[in-house]
Amino acid sequence: MHCIKRITDDLLWVGANDRRLAMFEGVYSVAGGVSYNSYLLLDEKTVLFDTVDKAVQQRFLENIAEALGTRALDFLIVQHMEPDHSAALREVINLYPGVKVVCNAKTLAMIKQFYDYEIDSRVCPVEENDTLDTGRHKLRFIMAPMVHWPEVMVTYDSTDKILFSADAFGCFGALNGAVFADEVDFNKDYLDEARRYYTNIVGKYGDQVQSLLNKAANLEIEIICPLHGFVWRRNLQDIINKYEIWSKYLPEEKGVVIAYASVYGNTENAAEIVSTKLRDYGINTAMYDVSVTAASEILAATFRYSHLVLASTTYNAHIFVTMEAFLNDLVAHNFQNRTIGIIENGSWAPSSGLLIKEQLEKCQNIRFINDPLTIKSSVKEQQFSELETLALKIKEDIIPPTIKEIIKEKERENTIDTAALFNLSYGLFVLSARKNEKDNACIVNTVMQVTDTPLRVSVTVNKNNLTHDMILATRKFNISVLSETVPFKVFERFGFKSGRDIDKFSEYNDSSRSNNGLLYLTENANTVISGEVIETFDFPTHTMFIAEVIHSVVLSTQPSVTYQYYFDHIKPQPQQAKENKKGFICKICGYVYEGEVLPEDFICPLCKHGSKDFEII
Ligand code: FEO
Repeated sequence: MHCIKRITDDLLWVGANDRRLAMFEGVYSVAGGVSYNSYLLLDEKTVLFDTVDKAVQQRFLENIAEALGTRALDFLIVQHMEPDHSAALREVINLYPGVKVVCNAKTLAMIKQFYDYEIDSRVCPVEENDTLDTGRHKLRFIMAPMVHWPEVMVTYDSTDKILFSADAFGCFGALNGAVFADEVDFNKDYLDEARRYYTNIVGKYGDQVQSLLNKAANLEIEIICPLHGFVWRRNLQDIINKYEIWSKYLPEEKGVVIAYASVYGNTENAAEIVSTKLRDYGINTAMYDVSVTAASEILAATFRYSHLVLASTTYNAHIFVTMEAFLNDLVAHNFQNRTIGIIENGSWAPSSGLLIKEQLEKCQNIRFINDPLTIKSSVKEQQFSELETLALKIKEDIIPPTIKEIIKEKERENTIDTAALFNLSYGLFVLSARKNEKDNACIVNTVMQVTDTPLRVSVTVNKNNLTHDMILATRKFNISVLSETVPFKVFERFGFKSGRDIDKFSEYNDSSRSNNGLLYLTENANTVISGEVIETFDFPTHTMFIAEVIHSVVLSTQPSVTYQYYFDHIKPQPQQAKENKKGFICKICGYVYEGEVLPEDFICPLCKHGSKDFEII
């Protein structure tokens, strides 16, 4: 009995489902079955878009008989001649002898290769952008070679803005009553199958899919009718975006596929240790035993995730047979743009790692995150930590450590990075200190390296600053070397106000505490130096502290801000102040002293510079 679904007022789905098929194309398991879609347009002329696989031919013929009623079939468009869509062609011709077969030259040649019946007399040949007027509808033919076979073309109905997309946008899985993607929870229940369909059927042909997407981008499309799976009438961009990502071989998300081949469970053990550690870091992993899970499924996962770990035992001095089959599949499907980790196992001559690497070097833009990690028969303590290191490397590749984490790690290692001292210039610095549980900092411009063995620096601080008094009392400080990224508000916060009046670190998130208990800036600073004072020199207005460097870290590659850069690019130009006020302006910070005469001993209340740094407005 017929089973038809309506797509629009005059377009019907007349396809059929096969839920008994074990292996699609003899290689892809289809536990959820598969649909063979065919569409019938009932315009002034009647048009059938493709036929179906021979397994479901009877239902399909019942469908078109019911849909046509007493009408004749005028045209049969063969968009894709692969037998799962053309097997019923002969029966359709026999049943509707007046039908014209619309196809391109390549399709015609392939029909003749596959089948043995007369067809030339009824063929209407078409080429790129040829059109067919069926009454209300105007159909345009667009060639889409290698999506999935060389003869493939798609059809655009400019009247109802429908793209009949052949294999493109298809999906494994029978249509269980619902024909539209918006009738099901597509992302939850079918996206994995759509990806598996894409990667295995057209995954190799990313460039050709891109070419079709570029052509489609010029069309106004409201409905997509593929030859397998759901019809798209809502949220079309969801599936189109997926095709954009897949056809460019870009990962959909950060995560790690771990595929392993293990004879006695020890290689599996290594793979599980890596996966467990990655999960501890909050990274998504998908594990597969390549001897159990079909390569087509693992391949689809590799198109989804950004990273791949391959772990294989050595077998006959080669890669284990099922791993090799999987690798062949990866290479054949143009796998690219991914980061790879490799683990090899071997009891007397482990060699699978380099062979895996050689295989993957055939692929484009593959990055190896480690030299193959070797296990001899089973994981021992030494390999356990190496596996953890591999997981950490992958984690840091996926989630780069924050500045705070880098510094914590370097502190843990008690690092003194002498390169940090190269970032000292006649620049600007946030000098921080802490006393009695109170943090404070000020801006200074005089930090210098004094000697390198022992590593010592000097910093000179105005006695009016609270930070000065704190350092004098505690003999500890941190210097954050400001970089060119620093905004003016950092100077306003740390330079233009007194720590005696406010908490300068209140609600300031871009700071962290180093091992000496003092704060430093994690943003807009390229270096942090921790010092312990060993000597002081007293000057009338300032104290010079000489300090031993106990810790130094480079935070970023941004250049240090120089005094000149600050004036040219960061400090707001005091034009406004000059226009509205009379008096003297501080050349350092822009503070305006209103009055006829500037006292000689005047100290700028914001930046603490003396009267010499003021000019008359
Ligand atoms: Fe469903 Fe390429 O055929």
